[in-house]
This record gives sequence, C-alpha cells and structure tokens, in this order.
Amino acid sequence: MTRKLFVTTALPYANAAFHIGHMMEYIQADIWVRFQRMQRDGDGLREVHFVGADDTHGTPIMIAAEKEGITPQEFVAKIAAGRAQYLDGFHIAFDNWYSTDSPENVELSQGIYRKLRDVGLIQTKVVPRFYDPVKGMFLADRNIKGECPVCHSKDQYGDNCEVCGAAYQPTELINPFSVFTNATPVLKDSEQYFFKLSDPRCFQFLKDWLNTPGRLQPEMVNKVSEWLGENGEKLADWDISRDAPYFGIPIPDAPGKFFYVWLDAPVGYLASLKNYFGKIGVDFDSFLRDPGTEQIHFIGKDIVSFHLLFWPAMLKFADHPVIDKLKVNVHGHLTVNNEKMSKSRGTGISPLRYLNLGMNPEWLRYYIAFKLNSKVEDLDFTGEDFVARVNSDLIGKYVNIASRCAGFIAKKFDGKLAAGLSGTAQAWIKRALVTPEGVERQANIAANFEAREYGKALREIMEIADITNQYVDENKPWILAKDDAKLAELHDVCTTALILFRQLSILLSPVLPGVAANVARFLNDDKFVWSDTDVASGVVAGAMLGRTIGAYDHLMKRVEPKMIEDLFEGPAQAAGAAAAPAVKAEKPAKAKAAAAAPAVTETGIEVLAPEISIDDFVKVDLRIAKIVNCEHVEGSDKLLRLTLDVGEGRHRNVFSGIKSMYQPEDLVGKLTVLVANLAPRKMKFGVSEGMVLAASAADEKANPGIYILNPWPGAEPGMRIR
Ligand code: 2FM
Ligand code: ZN
Repeated sequence: MTRKLFVTTALPYANAAFHIGHMMEYIQADIWVRFQRMQRDGDGLREVHFVGADDTHGTPIMIAAEKEGITPQEFVAKIAAGRAQYLDGFHIAFDNWYSTDSPENVELSQGIYRKLRDVGLIQTKVVPRFYDPVKGMFLADRNIKGECPVCHSKDQYGDNCEVCGAAYQPTELINPFSVFTNATPVLKDSEQYFFKLSDPRCFQFLKDWLNTPGRLQPEMVNKVSEWLGENGEKLADWDISRDAPYFGIPIPDAPGKFFYVWLDAPVGYLASLKNYFGKIGVDFDSFLRDPGTEQIHFIGKDIVSFHLLFWPAMLKFADHPVIDKLKVNVHGHLTVNNEKMSKSRGTGISPLRYLNLGMNPEWLRYYIAFKLNSKVEDLDFTGEDFVARVNSDLIGKYVNIASRCAGFIAKKFDGKLAAGLSGTAQAWIKRALVTPEGVERQANIAANFEAREYGKALREIMEIADITNQYVDENKPWILAKDDAKLAELHDVCTTALILFRQLSILLSPVLPGVAANVARFLNDDKFVWSDTDVASGVVAGAMLGRTIGAYDHLMKRVEPKMIEDLFEGPAQAAGAAAAPAVKAEKPAKAKAAAAAPAVTETGIEVLAPEISIDDFVKVDLRIAKIVNCEHVEGSDKLLRLTLDVGEGRHRNVFSGIKSMYQPEDLVGKLTVLVANLAPRKMKFGVSEGMVLAASAADEKANPGIYILNPWPGAEPGMRIR
C-alpha cells in the first residue's frame, strides 16, 4: 500500500510570537517530514503534506485585540504575519499555514458537531458559570485566579495549578478573582452544551482506539488508559460551549453560543489541509478515505487529554475517516539546565534572538535532534553541551572531511573525482557503511528516523564520520599531495572521503537541509534522495566515480561560546542572585541585625548616595504598575502580597513591607512604581518578581512611615519612568 502522509503539529495560539518550545516541536516534525519526502514510493517520491495553522479563537485573543482597539481578526492577522521569519529562519517547511478562523474550519467544526448531535452525544445542561459583574461577561477558566484548592498556592489559574499541577474546576478555587477587573466572580446560570464523553460508547471506543498497535507511544497508552477508569467511570462530559461575547465559531441553532476554542482547534488541522488541497487541486475527501493515508501528529505532553480523549471520540462519532488514520507522537518539554525555562531567571531562549545573534539554525536543529528520542521525555538544553556537541560533531567530524579533501580535487584533478577505487578504498567504504554485524548502517538510520529515534540515528551517522576521519587521518592527503608520485593515491583517498561525505550529507539532510542543499550543489547532485544511500546496489560509490564537482565553500562555522552568553534572555544578574533589598522588603533576620542606620545630613535627611551617571540610571527599569490584587501574607507581620499588572500580558507577584501603612483593599486598583528588572528574589512566602518603590525616613524609629509612590493620572501600566 502506498503511504500518503499528512503531518501536523499543535496549532499555536495566535496571541503571541513563537517561543523556543514551538520551534522544538516544529523542528522535530520537520525532520520527520523531510526524511519521508526523501523516500521513494513506486515511481516517484512519497506523498507528504505538512500543514499548520494559528489557533485563533478564545477569550485571551478577544481581550488582547480589545486592548489594542482592533478586531480579533486584525489581531490574528498581525500575529500570522510574523510567523514566516521563524519558520523560514529555522528551515521549517510547512506546505500551508492557515487559521482556525476560516470558512473551512467553520464548515468542518459545525459539521462534526451536527453529527455528534444526531447520534445523541450532545446534551444541554443549565450550569452555574463564573461571571464578571463589572465587565459583564462570563469568565473563561484562565480569566479567573485564586488559591489552589489542593496545595493552597495563591494566584493560580481557574483550570490548573502551575505549582502542584492539579486540575480542577474554577468553582473549586479559594478566593477567586477576575483577572480583568479583580472583581469577585459571581455564579450565574447559563445553558451549556456538553459533549457526552461519559456515554458508554465513548469508553468502548477509546479503549480499543488507544490500544491499536502503532497509534501511540506505550507510555501514553498507559497514561490515558488510567484516565478512562476501569469501566469509563472517570470520563466526564465536556463543556464545548461559551457564551457571547466570545471570539469563536457559532454553535448551530444556539444563538449567543460559541464553540469552546478547544473544540474547533484540532479541526483546524483538517481545515488547513482542505485549504491547501484547494490550492494544489487534490481531492480532500478521497485523500482522507484512501487506505494508505496516515495523519502523523506531533504534540507536547501538556495537551494530551484534548488530543487523546475528546478529539478521537468526536471524530469517531462524527464518523470522520481520519479517526482510523491518526497516530500521535507526544514529546516532553524543553528545559534549560534541567529546569523550566524562565526569562526572569535568565534562562529564556528567544528564537528570534538566536537568529539575530547570527547563530546558525542548523546547529539548533542538530542539537535538538541529537537529544530526541521517541519517548515522552523532556529535552534539556545546556549551553556548554550545545557548543561541545555542535563543534565536535558538525565541525570536527562532518565538515572536517570535506574541508580536508575537497580542495585537492579542485587543485590537482580539475575538479574531477577518480573513475575507479582501489580495493583498500572500497573496503573502507564497506567498513563505514556496514556494521561489524553485517547490517547496513543506513538501514538502521532510516529505521531510527522513521521511529523518531533521531538521537540514535545521529549517533550512527557520526560513526560513519568517525570511520571516514580515521581513513583520512591514516592516509593523510596533505602529505600525499606533496609527492607527485602519489597523485593516484591522493585521488583515490580524496574521492573515497568525498563519497562518504556525500553519504553523510544525504543521511543528515532531514536535520541539516540548508547544508545538504549546499553540498548537493557543490557535488553537482540534482537533489538528494534516500535511495542514493543504498549500499547493497552499489549506488553509493557508483554515482560519484568520474564526476566533476564544483568548488568547495566552507559549509559551517563553529559555535563561539560567547554567543551562548548573549543568547539567554532575562535580567543580567545570574539566576538566583539576591536582589538588593533597597526598600521595605522583609529581610532575613541576620541581614536585619547587621543593617546599620543610614547616615543623615544636618537637615536630618539620609546622606545622598554616590553620584551616578545617566547610564547607571537607565540600568534601572522603572515601570508603572497597577495593583490588581493585594492581600495579607499569612505568617508575616510586615509584608503585603501585591499582584501587579505591568502591561506584560501576565501578572507579577511582588512582596512589599508596607503592611503597617496600608489595608490591602485601599491599594487594589491603584497605580504605583515597580523596579521591573530586578532579579527575582526567593522569599519564605514565594518569589518576589520586582520591588515597588516606597519612601521612608532615615530615622525609622522616629518616623516609621512607609509611603508607596502613586503616579499622576494618565500614567498607564507598563509605561517606563525615565
Ligand atoms: O496549547 C496550545 O498552544 C493550543 N493552541 C494547541 C492547540 S492544538 C490543536 F488542537 F489545535
Ligand atoms: Zn496547587
């Protein structure tokens, strides 16, 4: 049966630029796609379609657009216009990039819904939902924050706790508040539409579907099976509706109701494919019904329930043909130094910054691939490891072969490779491409690419490079070149090394597409296909003998360790560096005891600090912050916990030693000034992400007042103070 592949990755929310985690997923999928595109099926190359889209719907995007005074469509278009620089920059070759806010997605999503309704899997229930009485709208889970009902961490979202990972309903939060107005949400009855995942049909189906061999990684089968329960008792109905105002797809025959974004998001894969097929003239329905068609889907471990419970059950009972074609590959997250990446800890990696520093995108592709396997494991990036891996493998092993041999072919042989090889050379080729056990290495490599065991594939490719370098080292073309009597030997050695270099380039081309294209040009190859690596039929050497090749241009530079220093985003201070507690943050007891009273002038004010230049001043980033919430800190007699909006699209948690002066409710809604680029400080009660400014007298005993700054009207959160 001829394979027809339709490859997809999770659709990114259209409310922000790509982050490095997106790049990791796309690189992983792109490598797989490029490997598949090099395979022959019948007379031609394998049919592979790689499509993506922006995930556009939902409240956050609606609100972000509202903040900018534009329509959600305009907002999404702006984000979409920024996608190409990342995708092109990292050689990620989607065939189509589309949008879930599209006619195809409306038609497909509504079609799926109607079918589910027809088979009795949609039910309406009147349920109490949180409502922001100030803003006049129902609140999405992420629009509500409060205290985690499980671990009691403050400031957690309404759907799950980022501290302990618990998932819950927003109604279970302790002291919930609306992130828009800080108002306490009220419960208001609303008729909601549910997909009946608890229906026994769903359980019966999912049990079998999950266990179909080859569909999922074994650890995922186990994990998701646990979510079903022994007899499906753990499966709960899923609320697929949201009330107006909502940026989404209208639910048919339900005025004022829209599909929850997670209903139409996965339909977006199909919408993008359909849109693409419209452009290239392929029949969408026939493709999906073809027995050879497979959808290979790459997602992160955080969105598994949507893709392995709701999505398959919906497809099945909407009688959608893709249900039998779907294979899902789940990956872990990208960590830095084995910790979650964090801008504030100085371990954030921005993909654009990477490119703008002049770092080669193929270094990252190689590094990511080298660390990937087919399991659901996190992938750790560490700077030193990155430099060592890239410089050792790509420069020291791979590029080194061509740079040591190609010049002699141009200089001594008019660019022409030898027409035949010595027996010794042939034996070395065999040694490089066939393992001691007699198995062809590239067959193993192909199997590992297919299985997404990229790390294993690259280790085997590097074994070929090692053997080739050993061959070059032993034969020393630079010595042979000095002796005219050894020209034939030089020709033999350089030709052999370049034959193996070409083999390596073909094997690496899914990972290094840019380099491979340059090598193909230099070696006068039309296009690399996988069958060119076929040892058994002798094509490896045969294709190169007697061939005239072009001039060799250096293929890749080394990574400079300085680049890594510049790569990480975030405060200049090293991770974990203590912030200087210049004002009233609570200090550890020892520091408190040691702190001497500041010197005062004759007029009784604190002596001025040493003079600074304007350059010193601009290092301190002061911002207007809105206090969206304020509360007492249990166990502290000095601190208040402030939740601040600094215009960043997220809130900051800041502790301030101003409890003696202010009641929390007096501060909520007020503006103040935040030192926004201060390294975060870990305190007993949590991490403080900056420091609010407050004034106090030199003689605290005589005048213990602490006065928080309050800007004049007109200042807005995020404005910089200069
Ligand atoms: O988690 C996310 O970023 C979602 N936008 C992924 C959606 S995947 C698919 F369902 F569209
Ligand atoms: Zn928790």
